[in-house]
Amino acid sequence: MNETGPLQRTPEPELMDGEAQARAYAEADFSEPHDQFVTLFGEFFSGLAVDGGVADLGCGTADVTLRFARAFPDCHVDGVDGSTAMLAHARAAVSTAGLDARISLLEGRIPEAVLPAATYPVVISNSLLHHLHRPGVMWATVDRLAEPGAAVFVMDLLRPASEAELERLVTTHAAGEPEILQRDFRASLHAAFTIDEVEAQLRDADLDWLDAVVVSDRHLVVSGQRPG
Ligand SMILES: C[S@@+](CC[C@H](N)C(=O)[O-])C[C@H]1O[C@@H](n2cnc3c(N)ncnc32)[C@H](O)[C@@H]1O
Repeated sequence: MNETGPLQRTPEPELMDGEAQARAYAEADFSEPHDQFVTLFGEFFSGLAVDGGVADLGCGTADVTLRFARAFPDCHVDGVDGSTAMLAHARAAVSTAGLDARISLLEGRIPEAVLPAATYPVVISNSLLHHLHRPGVMWATVDRLAEPGAAVFVMDLLRPASEAELERLVTTHAAGEPEILQRDFRASLHAAFTIDEVEAQLRDADLDWLDAVVVSDRHLVVSGQRPG
């Protein structure tokens, strides 16, 4: 812990491969941030026809994947995640929702993972970036998968400025959650990037068509449309 300066980044394990961790995540109610993900996508890309393939990077238990597929009923989503445990919950959720025909899930680790299509008209990702030890792999993967004209929408946590602010966020947003989820949330906030760091990542990746903005007390969005 740094008591004097801004909070430094502490990475967390990349994959969420613990059974208990995956179960707690699958059982948690993420409706507020995950509905916000879908709502903001619709606002940022108002008028865009979402009727082709969508790549969902780090899809986890497929909660965002499902909400996105329901909101845009003409698309097909390919979700990829490196955790067997998270994908087991994702497969059950997709099947229960009756959306197996519109959502494909594959196990693979970014950046090596090979998705069903070489490129996509839409690339989305929620809460993967802060897990990556080398965040550049996120932007290299977005660059590889986004076809000309593609809409890219990446939402993630923001690292707070201080331990006090971090604890305020845990109390505000996770006080009623099981201990394991509170611990994960704390670790994720420590592992998250600041908006300045994300902007530097985008410059390093030469992705000047993507912009980063703060959208809530704990989230940022990176979005843009690849020049076509
Ligand atoms: C916080 S969860 C978010 C899951 C989902 N997107 C959501 O919003 O509910 C992060 C996910 O990223 C996955 N992950 C982390 N690093 C990865 C990598 N290098 N390749 C693929 N998946 C990864 C983890 O296993 C985990 O399921």
